[in-house]
Amino acid sequence: MTNKKYHELITPYKDAMSVLIERINLLDHSLYEESDMEQKAIHHIESRIKSQESIEEKLKKLNLAVNKENAMENLKDIAGIRVVCFFESDIYKLVDVLERQNIFVLIKEKDYIKNPKPNGYRSFHVILAVPLYYLDVTEYFPVEIQFRSMAMDLWASMEHRICYKKDKNGVLKEEFLKYAEELEQLEKNFQENMSRMLKAEQVAT
Ligand code: GTP
Ligand code: MG
Repeated sequence: MTNKKYHELITPYKDAMSVLIERINLLDHSLYEESDMEQKAIHHIESRIKSQESIEEKLKKLNLAVNKENAMENLKDIAGIRVVCFFESDIYKLVDVLERQNIFVLIKEKDYIKNPKPNGYRSFHVILAVPLYYLDVTEYFPVEIQFRSMAMDLWASMEHRICYKKDKNGVLKEEFLKYAEELEQLEKNFQENMSRMLKAEQVAT
């Protein structure tokens, strides 16, 4: 793929990603303003467009010719957003309101929170098709969203750094499974602390 073709390919995905990030931020704000949430759900959002190199690599792995059409047809993660929330419960609230937005089309959903991967990976993955309104036509582009709590993000970032697709013999498997459990418990403890503080605040006022 030429550099020019790559840029042609990713331009609409960048636009779709911006639309979605804006909407997610708006929903976070509305949830906070209009429901009984005490704090905003989102800690921060990261985003990335798949590099030319990894698009080409993935197409080759799928035994497909490297071109724009195959990329558009077969890769659903050219645009990726990571929404890092404070707590697990924040994720479900956000996903619920996001999936009720009728402008987006739900392509795929994977709940690795209720069903963690065997290595302990936890996250909620959603792929949404985002409409882009051109002069005469509307076209949809997929964007992959990973929702994580801060504890899940800590685990996934470390696992990615240390052994994602590397720990072939599983020497660290048990260790990382243990960390996943510990982080889940730690998050629960933080959430209990927050509930206690909020109750104390309500009593005091
Ligand atoms: P990919 O071909 O890697 O995109 O996987 P997939 O199409 O089967 O989708 P899946 O939902 O399993 O993973 C999508 C993305 O989630 C990956 O590209 C990673 O960013 C993240 N992910 C999935 N599994 C793991 C994991 O075990 N560890 C970490 N650190 N990240 C993971
Ligand atoms: Mg991927």
